[in-house]
Amino acid sequence: MRRPKITVVGAGNVGGTAAQRLAEGNCYDVVLVDIVEGVPQGKALDLAQAGPVLGYDSQVVGANDYAETAGSAVVIITSGVPRKPGMSRDELLAINARIVQGVVREVAARSPDAVLIMVTNPLDVMVHVAQKVSGFPKGRVLGMAGVLDSARLRAFIAAELQVSVADVHAMVLGGHGDSMVPVLRYTTVAGRPLGEWLPKERLDALIRRTRDGGAEIVNLLKTGSAYYAPSASVVEMVEAILKDQKRILPCATRCDGEYGLKDVVVGVPVKLGSGGAEQIIEYDLTKEERTALMQSAQAVKELCATVERMLER
Ligand code: LAC
Repeated sequence: MRRPKITVVGAGNVGGTAAQRLAEGNCYDVVLVDIVEGVPQGKALDLAQAGPVLGYDSQVVGANDYAETAGSAVVIITSGVPRKPGMSRDELLAINARIVQGVVREVAARSPDAVLIMVTNPLDVMVHVAQKVSGFPKGRVLGMAGVLDSARLRAFIAAELQVSVADVHAMVLGGHGDSMVPVLRYTTVAGRPLGEWLPKERLDALIRRTRDGGAEIVNLLKTGSAYYAPSASVVEMVEAILKDQKRILPCATRCDGEYGLKDVVVGVPVKLGSGGAEQIIEYDLTKEERTALMQSAQAVKELCATVERMLER
């Protein structure tokens, strides 16, 4: 392979679409791994055959084992089962924690310098597991959720106000679940805080819809969860890292004193560059926002304690 190598583990909808977006970007080579025989190979072949039409020559390889993944610059982990209608992300904990534990062991051994980006749910807890299992520094184990939740809020705001999404900036912090924390003072349309654009009841409705954004899609699809926006979000993070862009994006990472949070993974704004999360950016939060972030972190902490007991057995 001739370009920075990116491994995508899990060749389902999120993994397959992420591989497609990365290949189409024409900057990276991609290894797609899945336990299901034939699927990663088939998708890789299909993606390679789209190259001549779309004008990319990224190499895409599919595999059922991890030999090809060695030396990856970034590893995206999407393995695990998605939600069914009516399920919360937390209900996936037991099954997905074991899957993620196994995958992280394999990739970390072969790509000791990689940045790991977790996508599997429940997201924040999976980042915790991946960091423990890999032993990587905290800045090199991240979770994709804040970019997605913020994108959902941006899309709803743009539609409501009939303005371009390009002019809407949003910051959704906290855990990727019912306790996520949209920080409205830092959510702006053309630089003007959202509260100056919309009355409170509309703000509340958009926040509610963002919070339920994943479930709304699960209920519509019935046999899986969202993947176009999740894969686009993870690719934005990859670009920021491998192009050393120093983007400031909300990502799940371990806080160690920032925001008054101690040793817990939660979504906060981070500066993303070649080292992964190079810095956590601390915003000035209101008392209510700080309390909401604390509560969100507490919910993640409880799930982490459960998962640690589970994995010890
Ligand atoms: C969602 C999944 C990816 O929010 O958690 O759609």
